[in-house]
Amino acid sequence: MRTRRAYRIPIEWDAIRATDLSNIRDDARQAHGLASYDPALVNTASCTSAITFIDGDRGVLRYRGYPIEQLPGRVRFLDVAYLLIHGELPGGIEARDWAAAVSSGADLPGAITSMVAGFPAEAHPMGVLLAAWSALGAYREASKAVDDPTVRAAEVPRFLGSIAALVGLVVRHRTGRPLASPAASKADYSTRFYRELFPAEAPPDPVLADALDTLLIIQADHEQNCSTNAVRAVGSSRVDPYSAIAAGIAALYGPLHGGANEAVVRMLHQIGTVDRVPPYIESVKRSERKLMGFGHRVYKSYDPRAKIIKATMERVFDVTGTSPLLDVALAIEAIALEDAYFIDRKLYPNVDFYSGLVYEAMGLPIDTYTTIFAAARMAGWVAHWLEGIQDPEQKITRPRQVYVGRDARDLGR
Ligand code: CMC
Repeated sequence: MRTRRAYRIPIEWDAIRATDLSNIRDDARQAHGLASYDPALVNTASCTSAITFIDGDRGVLRYRGYPIEQLPGRVRFLDVAYLLIHGELPGGIEARDWAAAVSSGADLPGAITSMVAGFPAEAHPMGVLLAAWSALGAYREASKAVDDPTVRAAEVPRFLGSIAALVGLVVRHRTGRPLASPAASKADYSTRFYRELFPAEAPPDPVLADALDTLLIIQADHEQNCSTNAVRAVGSSRVDPYSAIAAGIAALYGPLHGGANEAVVRMLHQIGTVDRVPPYIESVKRSERKLMGFGHRVYKSYDPRAKIIKATMERVFDVTGTSPLLDVALAIEAIALEDAYFIDRKLYPNVDFYSGLVYEAMGLPIDTYTTIFAAARMAGWVAHWLEGIQDPEQKITRPRQVYVGRDARDLGR
């Protein structure tokens, strides 16, 4: 309308290319043509991806085509990590080689152990993990060759071994357990990870190790979430992958993202009893606070991961005994699902609503929950980092802005 010219813009994948908008130009006024303005990238696809599919209206989540409901109990987390990263589930020989290559990453430099030990025990485990993971990159100099496929193939499995070893170290430091890694064993990844978290105890109850495996699987990827977007954006500068993934850990730490699992359990403790749920919900509706563990940018129906965690939680409670906070959580869900405020805004429990109760039942301190999420999401971060740096369309991430500041002015004389 402004220029009275007509433009033809192709529609591809139900999207238009934002760069095509720049052809719409008022030559008299603009150097760059029209841009799209999308704070928080609410309606902007920043990449193509073949890894994870979500239909938020129908509550569908698929990894490489497989519905999330089919994976836990049928395959283990390490197979799912392989699936996300390589596109197919591993065959027998591939699975064995993959597990061996992953294990090689568990050998952390002594200086990293000393670094973790140097933090006060009460330092937040996500802050410690972030610092130690970034530092680990400084010891893996070869990883800087991000465009060399041989280097990438050698480095990728090590990320998974290293994150489990590092999260174990951070949690042992937080809980005052000996820092030395538990003896190597032939157990599967999740069982070994469980031993990294609780080394002094007898072999874990298989129900608890299986529950950890399920939690790792369902948190392994979620397409362009805040932390994965951070990994892709930072990785686009061609920095080493440890630094790119450090950006993901930082993003995950936030209470609106992975830190919500910690925030939910703090909220449940604060509410304390079922009779205090209705006034708490009223305060949420007055916008005095958010209901943590509820709502999602993409899901406008029940988060399929929350359903799986709820079933897992019941199995865990059969072993550990139930939590008094379970009744509080169930009361919140029951009230919220019937209340117009939540119905109108399509707010349902998300993945973080029940996961913290499982971690609490396992005996983990509240501030360590997000470190387990980081270990799970490592699979997705690596898959997306690889996809991003091999995509010829992905230049360095550099969005535009709409400048709303002062016009040129002069300091004067
Ligand atoms: N409690 C109360 N109201 C909420 C909540 C909530 N948890 N979430 C959204 N709303 C309201 C929001 O105030 C807004 O209301 P109005 O239209 O009256 O202004 C409406 O719902 C739409 O919300 P939004 O802010 O546009 O939603 P968003 O897509 O920007 O945010 C979210 C998504 C996950 C950040 C948000 O729902 C939230 O803060 N939830 C609580 C934190 C949480 O559980 N995070 C975990 C997310 S899932 C896993 C992960 O990423 O780690």
